[in-house]
Parts: sequence; structure tokens; C-alpha cells
Amino acid sequence: MQMTDLIIKKRDGGELSREELAWFVRGVTDGSLPDYQISALLMAMFLRKLTLRETVELTRLMADSGDRADLSGIEGIKADKHSTGGVGDKTTLICTPLTAACGVRVAKMSGRGLGFTGGTADKILSIPGFRNEIEPQAFFDNVNRVGASLIAQTGNLAPADKRLYALRDVTGTVENRSLIAASIMSKKLASGCDVLVLDVKTGSGAFMKTREDAVELARLMVSIGEEAGVRTSALITDMDTPLGNTVGNAIEVEEAIETLHGRGPADLTELSLALAAEMVHLGTGDALTVCMERVKTALYDGSARKVLANLIQAQHGDHGVIDNPGLMKQPRLNASICAEKDGYLDKMDTEAVGRSALLLGAGRARKEDDIDPSAGIRFLKKPGDAVQAGEPVAHLYSDDAEKLADGTALLRSTMGYCSAKPDLVPLIQARVSREGVEEWH
Ligand code: URA
Repeated sequence: MQMTDLIIKKRDGGELSREELAWFVRGVTDGSLPDYQISALLMAMFLRKLTLRETVELTRLMADSGDRADLSGIEGIKADKHSTGGVGDKTTLICTPLTAACGVRVAKMSGRGLGFTGGTADKILSIPGFRNEIEPQAFFDNVNRVGASLIAQTGNLAPADKRLYALRDVTGTVENRSLIAASIMSKKLASGCDVLVLDVKTGSGAFMKTREDAVELARLMVSIGEEAGVRTSALITDMDTPLGNTVGNAIEVEEAIETLHGRGPADLTELSLALAAEMVHLGTGDALTVCMERVKTALYDGSARKVLANLIQAQHGDHGVIDNPGLMKQPRLNASICAEKDGYLDKMDTEAVGRSALLLGAGRARKEDDIDPSAGIRFLKKPGDAVQAGEPVAHLYSDDAEKLADGTALLRSTMGYCSAKPDLVPLIQARVSREGVEEWH
């Protein structure tokens, strides 16, 4: 087989066979294909699109390109969740203990953050002593005993995606539904979960800028999961506004803990409950309304908070943070942004908010960069809130004066004010499952 034949076939709108896709994925994984030919085929796939059959086969081949995690050491159904990437999205830290408190185990392998969205594996390391890399047996034991464990993705899961994603990132070929679906679902299928809930973001801070595109991406991922025998559903959720009031690492862990105390912001609480209810629903088969009542009880009676404390302790972290988040590293410097006029805070470019947090030191532009756990943003006002000129709308934190100035300048430039309350879209817009697409009420 010749790579040029595959490139020309796709360039001219043809459909690649299973054998051709298998040969391509093998060449990506074993290094025999050069970057320039892989990139050319990715661009042809991006422009000509993949059929459903090509997408499903590419996903399976990518999932099989390395190891498949063997979670048979964990008893019962294992639930997982995945977000397509959001700013201020700390829901994993909340819905993992919520789901476990309702009796469905969560063996969560999370990615590190890259670019403007943060990764759970980085955030949780803000807790003093916490280890996100533990031996497989300790991971299994923790899930069996505590109900949940949160570790950094390790091992050789879907190595084809690692190379393809790195090339897509630098060749303008990320925002294609089939390529995103194959990338995400290959890693999820390789990670060995039984049920999977997807949080597909739409809006200015998301890959899918429109609701229609997000629904199509969700439908595609749900079909791929279900075809592979993994019960899968998705919520379509807004990313036109950062989730909750904080963006960063320690500051997001603190907000997640506040939420588990029942004192979290309304948007973050609503989405965390909805995702956890979906995980419990898929994991138990019980009605969604019943599962929603169960996760609410686990939130307000403190049982989910207890699971998080046990999880932290099992992974060598200081569980004192549950009652004293000040145990996490505190920033040296801070700055504030004040409202420039009376009126309402307008919608903001969420991606720019993420980039501002990155400039403060909360994220990494390159994978070898270090993260400052105490850097971040706390919003005192969110889009749609009434403001008075001179009143603080956000506090920013960093250890470095230059980073603080750069991050503050970018955040200030993305904040606008309007005289009438802006129209905001609902946080949860739809639910996608094997039964179809339902509006969210
Ligand atoms: N996240 C992924 O893992 N892959 C994509 O292609 C997009 C988001």
C-alpha cells in the first residue's frame, strides 16, 4: 500500500476501506509514516470529511493502537465522564465523589491540561501531598474501597491519537467532528469503562461554536460508544461563560470543595448534579429522576464530601483541605479588575479568559511548562450581572508580577459592559442518548 494513494483517494472524496485505515493507523503508531504524509491525509480528511463507517473504524483502530486498560480488578460497573474541554470546568472533582457516594464506582484517568483549558490531573495536584500517579493495584484497591480514584493518564493508551493530535494541533485540522470523536472515543474505549457520560461544550470557549455542531458531535460519539458496548450519553452544555466563579488550579479545587459543602455557584452545582445523575442512571439502569434525587441527597447530606476526603487520603493527600482550603499554596500577588461603567457585564470570550489564566501561570503553553497551582482568576461578577462603575468584577492571582500584568491586561480587554441585560443561553441545552436528542428542561 502507498500513502500517496490514500491521500489522493481521500483528497478526491473517496471512502477509505478498513484495510487502508488499519494500514494508516499502524504506520502512525510504529513511526514508519512521515509527519508530512500523515498531515496531508489529515487535511484531506478534514476537508472531505469521514463517513460514519470510516469514523467508527478509525476510532476502533486507534483504541487498539496500544494497550487497553484492564479494570477487571475493580468490582461492579465502572462509570467515566469526559468533557470536550472547558474553562473553569471542575465538574470531575464534584461528580466523581457524587457518583461514588451513590454506589457507582469511578476509576478516572484524567489528562493534563494543555492550552487554554485545564486538566483535572493538574488541578488535584494542588492538594498538598496528593499523588496522581499510583501503582495499578493501589488504583484498583482505592476504587474498591473508597468508590473512586483520580489518577493521571499513564501507560500506552491510544498512542496513535497522541501522534495524530499533536499533528492536528499544528496543521489546522482540530475542529473536525469525526477527528474529534475518534480522538476522544479511542482514549475512552481504551480506558476500559463500562458506562460513559460526555459533556459536549458549545460556545465561544469550545471547539464546537454552535449548538447544532455540538449535537452532531455528541450523536457521533454516542453511536461509537454504544457500538463498542459502552453505554454512552451526552449533555450539550454552554461554554460561552466560564463555569463557576473560578479559573485556575488550587482555586478551582477550593470551589469544587465549596460545592460539595452545598455552597457552590448555581451553574457549577447544576451541571455537576446533572452529570452525576447521568452516570448513576447509566451505571444502575434506574430512572434519571430517581438518580437525580439520589445525587442531590449525596451532595446535601455530606456523603459525597466524605468520599472526596477518603479519596484524597487514599492518594496520600492532606484531606484537611476539605475544611481548610487555605492549606493549598497561596499566591504572592494579586490584582483586581473594576467595572468601567454602570450597567451589566456583557458576554465574554471564554477562550480569552482561559488564555488569561494561562498567562497568569495557571496552565501550560508547551507540555514541558510548569504550572503555578496558586495562579488563577476569581470572578465576583459573571455575564448578565448588574455592575456599578468602580466595583471589582474579578480578582487575579499570580506569583510573578509580569505574568500578573499580562493576564490582567488580557482579561480586562475581553470584558465589556452593556446598558441592557445581555441574552444568555441556558447552561444545559440538550441530552443525547441512544434514544435520540431531547431538550433539557
Ligand atoms: N479533545 C481530544 O482529546 N481530542 C480532540 O480532538 C479534541 C478534544
